[in-house]
Amino acid sequence: MEGITTPVYRKVHKKYFGGVDRYFSPFIVVTSTHNLKKRETREYIPFEKDMTPQILTAAGTDFAWAAKMLKGLGYDEVNLNLGCPAATVVTKGKGAGLLRNKENLRVFFEDVFSENDLPDITIKTRCGFWSHDEAEELAEIFADYPFKELIVHPRIREEFYQGTPNPDSFKIIKNKVKCPVIYNGDIFDVSSLRDHLETDDGIMLGRGLLRNPMLAEMKDFDIYDSRLQGFLNELYDEYMSIMSGERDVLFKLKELWTYLIASFPDREDEFKRLMKASTGAEYKASVNRIIHSYT
Ligand SMILES: Cc1cc2nc3c(=O)[nH]c(=O)nc-3n(C[C@H](O)[C@H](O)[C@H](O)COP(=O)(O)O)c2cc1C
Repeated sequence: MEGITTPVYRKVHKKYFGGVDRYFSPFIVVTSTHNLKKRETREYIPFEKDMTPQILTAAGTDFAWAAKMLKGLGYDEVNLNLGCPAATVVTKGKGAGLLRNKENLRVFFEDVFSENDLPDITIKTRCGFWSHDEAEELAEIFADYPFKELIVHPRIREEFYQGTPNPDSFKIIKNKVKCPVIYNGDIFDVSSLRDHLETDDGIMLGRGLLRNPMLAEMKDFDIYDSRLQGFLNELYDEYMSIMSGERDVLFKLKELWTYLIASFPDREDEFKRLMKASTGAEYKASVNRIIHSYT
């Protein structure tokens, strides 16, 4: 997830919590110049085992270039983002913007799969741009190309993150394609995770894992789990060691806390203080008060 599941987050999460088979990088923007920003290259250098880099781009030729470049670095799988709904992304024909014109989407995939020596290609997609009625046509297009796996978030672009994921659109795509179809969307607790694991080929967790870092272990959030303190301390220290100052580190960690706080009922007042913290000491004091106020 952009700005949140950084290499630092992935490393520290992996150290303290289990259950995740594979992490995905936030999207890496690739333009026609093929000049990647330093911030983007840090997503995949140094090489990270069990991590799939995700590319956000408007042209199949640029995607193929990036996929081969990443393969050269050791990545055997690369993911294409067909889901980002942000206006700044969509208007440039990237992310969910690629779902708007189905002819162009085919051209995109033709450009990709006419290349040799690609790594495995997976996609992360929504089920339409304007309407769920588009799921059928999208499924037909996806079925024509040799994807290793599809990750489907069954909302359309126009829904952004509103409403509930649509199980019918998910099924339409799942029934049409031959590769495994991974479910993504609104899995926030163990019981919905368990339900989806029974019926689906696999699960991608998003906000649910940010709210509850032990969710992939099939554990509902445990306020008393001693790993939480270590996890948060180490995130702080790791960010301090690579970022230019406390302000930037606090900005990063406050963003994570906008998700984590959902797991700490009745701590809204302390959360407000945490969000106003302007020094590391204030931030840590707030975290301590939130975490230890239940003991
Ligand atoms: C702040 C934010 C950043 C996101 N960044 C990405 C991204 O870089 N790549 C991606 O495929 N999805 C991204 N997503 C979408 C999530 O991966 C996921 O598809 C969506 O939140 C629904 O799943 P969830 O309910 O499990 O979170 C982002 C979502 C949010 C809220």
